[in-house]
Amino acid sequence: MNNKVKIAVFPVAGLGTRFLPATKSMPKEMLTVVDRPLIQYAVDEAREAGIEHFVFVTGRNKGVIEDHFDRQFELETTLFERGKTKELKELQKDLPKPGQTSFTRQQEPLGLGHAVWCARDIVGDEPFALLLPDMLIKAEPGVLSQMMGAYNENGGNIIAVEEVDKKDVSSYGVVGRGAGLDEGFIINEMIEKPDPKDAPSNLIISGRYILQPRIFDLLSSHTKGAGGEIQITDAMQALMKEQQFTGVKFKGRTFDCGSKIGFLSANVAYALDREELSEEFRKELAILL
Ligand code: G1P
Repeated sequence: MNNKVKIAVFPVAGLGTRFLPATKSMPKEMLTVVDRPLIQYAVDEAREAGIEHFVFVTGRNKGVIEDHFDRQFELETTLFERGKTKELKELQKDLPKPGQTSFTRQQEPLGLGHAVWCARDIVGDEPFALLLPDMLIKAEPGVLSQMMGAYNENGGNIIAVEEVDKKDVSSYGVVGRGAGLDEGFIINEMIEKPDPKDAPSNLIISGRYILQPRIFDLLSSHTKGAGGEIQITDAMQALMKEQQFTGVKFKGRTFDCGSKIGFLSANVAYALDREELSEEFRKELAILL
């Protein structure tokens, strides 16, 4: 019987160099899509999938993320006094419950695998979800919820994947497709940022994972991979010899907010989807185009 997945890890220690100077003193995970920071979308997706504890692997200059998930009494009082009950309710809805968050720091930028390994003591001996907030995925239900079905069916480790143009695979982790299952397919290979000619497919890893805690043992060797960094993909490739990895092609649209085009497109797509903005924004866009 599988353990229920109740804990999620959010690596938020990245430097955000592609968004300088905006990210000089502000974490890239606090960049907003319409009016919500990227990290809030990832936390919402996790909560919707039944996650009860949220682990943030932060770094220097990231204190504001911790503040974001705390109460702001001054602000709440002011909203209350001004009768802004709708805004107040919204703020309270977004907040994890007391004791549901943990924060740890990755002291050096040694790679995504190392960031995940930094969460090992907090996660303990349980399966966990891993969400990369840069990959904003517009989906209903959210991608992590879609993956839970495959997890309940197959157990083991689950990875959300999607197809991209072959020329773009070198920006991502790529999986090889094995036998089909009722829910998803068996992954038979994984490679981080391959040259398109060496890629086993055009199915990329979309920044959503359900992993077994054994991954922490494999990450503890601190082996460096692509870009001289400790890669989660390499540890997963090693774990594949012991445990099943299932690929899930989810329904939804990904915005890679690690790139400017992805981030700008996300803002347009999410704004067009907001009832109170859509009509006016559509007119503005028509003028601009
Ligand atoms: C990371 C992962 C990669 C994955 C990507 C999704 O790469 O290592 O396998 O496809 O996220 O965004 P990064 O974007 O940190 O270079």
